[in-house]
Amino acid sequence: MMNLIPVGVLGSGKYVPERILTNKELETMVDTNDEWIVTRTGIRERRIAAPEQASSDLAYEAAQVAMKNAGITAEQLDLIIVATITPDMAFPSTSCILQDKLGAKKAAAFDLAAACSGFIYGLANASNFIATGIYKYALVIGVDCLSRITDYTDRNTCILFGDGAGAVVIGQVPEDRGFKSFELGADGAGGPLLKIEGGGSRNPASPESLDKRMHYIYMAGSEVFKFAVRVMGNAAEEVLRKAGMSKEDVDLLVPHQANYRIIQSSLNRLNLTEDKCMINLDRYGNMSAASIPVALAEAAEQGRVSEGDRLVLVGFGGGLTWGASVLVW
Ligand code: ACO
Repeated sequence: MMNLIPVGVLGSGKYVPERILTNKELETMVDTNDEWIVTRTGIRERRIAAPEQASSDLAYEAAQVAMKNAGITAEQLDLIIVATITPDMAFPSTSCILQDKLGAKKAAAFDLAAACSGFIYGLANASNFIATGIYKYALVIGVDCLSRITDYTDRNTCILFGDGAGAVVIGQVPEDRGFKSFELGADGAGGPLLKIEGGGSRNPASPESLDKRMHYIYMAGSEVFKFAVRVMGNAAEEVLRKAGMSKEDVDLLVPHQANYRIIQSSLNRLNLTEDKCMINLDRYGNMSAASIPVALAEAAEQGRVSEGDRLVLVGFGGGLTWGASVLVW
């Protein structure tokens, strides 16, 4: 077998739009209240992209910070992967739009659709290119403008979602650092639980698809909740096993930020206390592919990770999909 190059995070960054949508404001839009939202989800407010902002604009800001922190210029990038379910448009891909904005002239670029698990899927993909020596530097971004696909007349979903972008530059790191294992999975049979039916080749946009509100997220909340609790715990345990580590080795859990109660169940499963977990969903809600990289970037910003710390990243989402990784910082 060929010798693999150790791969890890060289720099991270985030961007969230300025506009804040609070629970109080949602009370004026649908039949809900702050107390219900906080106790059932843990969310207090979320960010909403300005009308002129699309996913590539959010991604651009996060990418600039990640590249600066990594000490890498856009010209040095070999690969850009954008994980998103809210691309600027069907094509060109958001990663190609971003490649142009950044001036990353030599970078290959593609989008990846794995909903909230997209960032971990992206990391796994990009790290293979670097581990095998095909590429040196890759930019992996999780970005979503969920406000653009959220039905603000549906109280079951509109309280959950927000907009944002998180980015990392990955490349070679010392042998004892970097990604130690990945666990990716999918259960397509569960796809109907979380979907947008309109706008694709099955149901192209039409007056009828608009009438039926088919361009918005549909979610069977309690089914997705049960799935999430199961796979978050399983994936975290599996990825630790693959890395030859145990629960006691975990310094920081960086989970997908969908619901505080789902995060709590992952902490219980790993016997971790809350001080060993990044939680920011109170401020941002669920930003889909952006949730994990924004939490990771904030962990770095806030000095919550030091060299050698063992992180578990874990998420789940539409598809259904899940993904996890052990990352030694
Ligand atoms: N305000 C007040 N009441 C509400 C609201 C609201 N915003 N939303 C639902 N309710 C009501 C329901 O109508 C229901 O009332 P009923 O009993 O009279 O029918 C009651 O509250 C309980 O509803 P449940 O759905 O059972 O509530 P639950 O505790 O399951 O919480 C929630 C709902 C928060 C959606 C939860 O199921 C959840 O977090 N699911 C996972 C969602 C998720 O993580 N999705 C991620 C994927 S996103 C992606 O991939 C893009």
